[in-house]
Amino acid sequence: MCGIIGYIGERKAQPILLNALRRLEYRGYDSCGIAVSSSSIEVYKDAVRVGELVKALPQFDGTIGIGHTRWATHGEPSQVNAHPHYDCTGNIAVVHNGIINNFQRLRQQLINEGHTFVSETDTEVIPHLIEKYYQGSLEDAVEAALGDIEGSYAITVLMAGEPKLVAARKDSPLIIGIGDRENFIASDVPAILEYTNRVIYLEDGDIVVVTPHSLKVRTGGTEVEREEHKISWSIEEAQKGGYEHFMLKEIHEQPKVIRDTLAGYVSEAESVFDLAVMRDDGVESMLILACGTSYHAALVGKYIIEELLRIPVRAELASEFNYYAQTLAKTGAIVITQSGETADTLKAIKRLKEVGCLTLAIINVVGSTASRIADQTIYTRAGPEISVAATKSFMAQLVVLYWLVMSHSKVDARRLASMLLGLRQMPSKVQQVLDNEDKISEVARYLSRYEDVFFIGRGINFPLALEGALKLKEISYIHAEGYAAGELKHGPFALLSGDTPVIAIVTQDNTYEAMLTNIKEIKARGSPVIALAGEGDEAIRELADSVITVPRVNAIFSPMVNIVALQLLAYYTAKERDCSIDTPRNLAKSVTVE
Ligand code: AGP
Repeated sequence: MCGIIGYIGERKAQPILLNALRRLEYRGYDSCGIAVSSSSIEVYKDAVRVGELVKALPQFDGTIGIGHTRWATHGEPSQVNAHPHYDCTGNIAVVHNGIINNFQRLRQQLINEGHTFVSETDTEVIPHLIEKYYQGSLEDAVEAALGDIEGSYAITVLMAGEPKLVAARKDSPLIIGIGDRENFIASDVPAILEYTNRVIYLEDGDIVVVTPHSLKVRTGGTEVEREEHKISWSIEEAQKGGYEHFMLKEIHEQPKVIRDTLAGYVSEAESVFDLAVMRDDGVESMLILACGTSYHAALVGKYIIEELLRIPVRAELASEFNYYAQTLAKTGAIVITQSGETADTLKAIKRLKEVGCLTLAIINVVGSTASRIADQTIYTRAGPEISVAATKSFMAQLVVLYWLVMSHSKVDARRLASMLLGLRQMPSKVQQVLDNEDKISEVARYLSRYEDVFFIGRGINFPLALEGALKLKEISYIHAEGYAAGELKHGPFALLSGDTPVIAIVTQDNTYEAMLTNIKEIKARGSPVIALAGEGDEAIRELADSVITVPRVNAIFSPMVNIVALQLLAYYTAKERDCSIDTPRNLAKSVTVE
């Protein structure tokens, strides 16, 4: 997820572009750049935040320009990979938000036709394709270029000597801001709200030609009218997409995150998985290392790999791993980290490398330190996660772990096909949980008056009990503990009373009966029970004080629906207690010290 901006009017473009980019940094902030057109196109870009770019930037006088702030997907954050990208002549500059799945094939074709590429990005094929098809009409050349592209895009194109901007979108957001003798193109409302609140939302397939005095939208070669909207939000509200907190916005982004992460791995670009640690030549066991929420994803990964591949897996805390002796012969190692900067995890990677253990890193932040030191890296496609509490990154980690296993040779074709079908249904299943938000916020109102809460689960949902407890702890400051349900009677039962509600994750799999028994034992000790259970589960309604229903899915995927309910429960409990949800006390988004 990147942020793009375009300006055309009578004012100097540069200050407007930079201001807008600052407002779009929540969409990505690893590099940025602008291009301004006067007699020729002037470009300045670098792997810095907008604030740094402003300090180093020469003055450009033009009144037409484009800008970009990046969240890297293809090619590390660097000056050459930053946007705008341009063609061989330097006369066509493009900013892009999205992913081009067939870029490698297009790139090779263009190289064979004599084009020279300078970056590692997927985006750079766009200006070269426009150059290839340009016959006097910029919008026609853009349309032809987009005809070759597979994937998602929101683009804005600037050409030297052309008194217009051309923009287009497919599966990435793009809006037009209507001004007085000026117009704006942007990924999102916050970028332009300071200048205008008159906005047009472009639709998939739209191409728009923008001049200071006109907008012409066409789709499928036909000119169309798009409705103008008046925006009443503040800029801060707009950055959160109308949600009150980044955490709630990021929770609601999960259906898209699943689709994006899946699309990244079930597409031409990356379908050939050759992950040394997953190749079964000599790997007899796996080790998964991580911290915090990522560690809970590791525990789910352990379950999935052992269940589907029958390879023994150790999931360990990176902070502990660094301090005891290890036998790592014939072990494939995976590390999981959203930020890629967690000190304990980085230290573990270095330790693994010292003993010659091949390491695969599952990371959300492209170009982060972990991606530089691990042997192989797979990126989750969660986009920037602003809220300290990890939510959508956990979901994306689960999708990658399911895919890793599914791409392993041991999984037979029929099982692979049914699992792929199951995964493809998950965005709509997750959406069903999101649609049940009101019910969950009701339960949260009840939960918010307690100071001690237990979470229990079994099998693949034991890690979910840990994660549910962590989310509640982090943002509501309630003392919450996650337990394997069978463990309570070995001690924690002593703490149970009417003041310690228990949240039980009850999935209809081989642990179901045992969970019902545990709930009866807990009820017998006077604790209220809130059950997270599948649709139509009447037995649980008899037992639990309150039930949060989630859609029925293949049990192996149940963590993906259960986690969303647990995230919403934590969010609304913290809201009820008036906590500072996005920046909880004493915590940091990336823990860069041991
Ligand atoms: C989770 O909500 C927390 N932010 C924290 O536990 C986090 O998961 C942990 O610090 C690991 O971070 P990483 O995934 O960036 O390595």
